[in-house]
Amino acid sequence: MGTTVLVLAPGILTSCEKVVIQNVDPEPKGPALPNGLVIDLSISDYAILNNAGGSKVVNGIIIVNTGNNSFSALASACTHQGSQINYSSKSNNLQCPSHGSVFSMTGSVLNGPAITALKSYSVSRSGNILTITE
Ligand code: FES
Repeated sequence: MGTTVLVLAPGILTSCEKVVIQNVDPEPKGPALPNGLVIDLSISDYAILNNAGGSKVVNGIIIVNTGNNSFSALASACTHQGSQINYSSKSNNLQCPSHGSVFSMTGSVLNGPAITALKSYSVSRSGNILTITE
């Protein structure tokens, strides 16, 4: 889970040596959901999710109504330095206001400086109930 920081000092490496960075965590990052997350769309707090393009952050997860009765759920903390990302309905992606990282709706990094994907969750709907699970 840790990240190795490589510090280069002049004179230690010659021009022929290979630099191998190890232990960079490639796993998408996001909160664990051992019991799932249940959202009742009939509750006023979540009413925005009834509209295409609407989004809401709940327990570190951004839930997005992507239209056509489809929903996405991804970790809401940018994997660069943790700022809360926002959904752009215009671009249909997730954008970080701090340093410009952009993530796809599957969580992959489209633009840095972030290098780690957002964790993506499964969303199912039954009537007014959304159930979000890992
Ligand atoms: S915290 Fe998101 S790009 Fe830096």
